[in-house]
Amino acid sequence: MKKRMLFILTVTMTVLGMSLAGCSSSDNKANQETTEASAEAEEKTEAAKQPEEGTRVAKDGADMQTEDPSMPTRIPMEGGTKINMYFGDTLITGVLNDSETAKALIEKLPITQHVSRYSHDFCGVTETLPYKEEEVHYGWLNGDIDYATDAPYFTILFEDEDVSEQYGNQVNIGVITCPLEEIAALEGDYDVRIELAEEGAAASADKSSQEENISVSEKAKNNSLAVYFSRVGNTDFPEDVDASSSASIQAEGGQIKGNAQMIAEWISEEAGCETFEILTKESYPVDYDETVDQASNEQNEGARPELKTEIENLDEYDTIYLVFPNWWGDIPMPVYSFLDAYDLSGKKINVFITHEGSSFSGTIDTIKELEPEAEVTEGLAVRGGSVAEEEDNIRQWVKDK
Ligand SMILES: Cc1cc2nc3c(=O)[nH]c(=O)nc-3n(C[C@H](O)[C@H](O)[C@H](O)COP(=O)(O)O)c2cc1C
Repeated sequence: MKKRMLFILTVTMTVLGMSLAGCSSSDNKANQETTEASAEAEEKTEAAKQPEEGTRVAKDGADMQTEDPSMPTRIPMEGGTKINMYFGDTLITGVLNDSETAKALIEKLPITQHVSRYSHDFCGVTETLPYKEEEVHYGWLNGDIDYATDAPYFTILFEDEDVSEQYGNQVNIGVITCPLEEIAALEGDYDVRIELAEEGAAASADKSSQEENISVSEKAKNNSLAVYFSRVGNTDFPEDVDASSSASIQAEGGQIKGNAQMIAEWISEEAGCETFEILTKESYPVDYDETVDQASNEQNEGARPELKTEIENLDEYDTIYLVFPNWWGDIPMPVYSFLDAYDLSGKKINVFITHEGSSFSGTIDTIKELEPEAEVTEGLAVRGGSVAEEEDNIRQWVKDK
């Protein structure tokens, strides 16, 4: 329980109790807001109170589409930051804009945000984020992702844009990019996992590595090998995840990528070496929380999940770059399986970890214990939420070796 708390504390936002009757959908709140802000609202939204035929309620200069009411009204910002929001097994994709508020949120990703469904939005109290006064406005467009400055709230508003101008304190931070119905159909409360949608490069090399019993090419370019384990490669996401999460998938049959995978690929490019993916026979659950629970159970049991990939030509390598995510303050159990399976005596192991706050934990010492005759070197600890920003550092580290 202690370690669960530690992890939850490091990766989640502070989630306050939802004792309020609701978010922007609450009549109480609406009345309160209307009372408190009525004078200001009248002044600020004089024109908006009598919207002209065909105009929209948002006052933030949004680009809008009005042809397809089943889709979000706001057109996502070009070059905005793509995110994935997991409502249980349902993926809602979105794009965040470049507002100060959105940038502050992006810095924190990934996070878990508690939200509840109200009549026209999913909403939950969130951490205080910075915002510019001039960006605070009344109303929203269907599909908007807003930060409401009063509680403050994180909110996804999927309907009622035409009557939304009575609600103030809105700062737009983005928009969802899937049909409105996909979120409107959901009921109840969720701990929504919000992550950056990892922009994968081409699937090519890795597609083949996801098939069973593949070994690393015998023609290693040099004596190094970048070995990695990522959640993404070890999870069978449903077929339709591609269709419904276009934000995270490359248009030409690309794939989502894990953080450790991205690091391993940069290393392999810089070192001019092959990559090898540690893949388990049994996939991990699609649901993030279930994976988290399963990983905890595996750790408690000291499990060694069976692997389906193997290295046939280990002798050819004298340097192993070992890249994996921190799971529960430790090495993921499949990486233990890998280390049990191979004797890395006499080799150099450069360890890279990706994490959300725990850094290396005790993993370097553990690897030294498991491979006592290897030279184990601490590489870099890279936060998953900012892995892309660390690309240059990672490449430089390899160059310097
Ligand atoms: C099962 C599980 C357990 C995790 N435990 C921790 C943890 O204890 N500390 C931490 O900082 N991050 C933890 N994380 C976050 C991951 O280390 C982080 O998101 C990482 O970048 C994921 O890399 P990947 O995309 O290659 O799988 C955990 C993630 C999962 C799925």
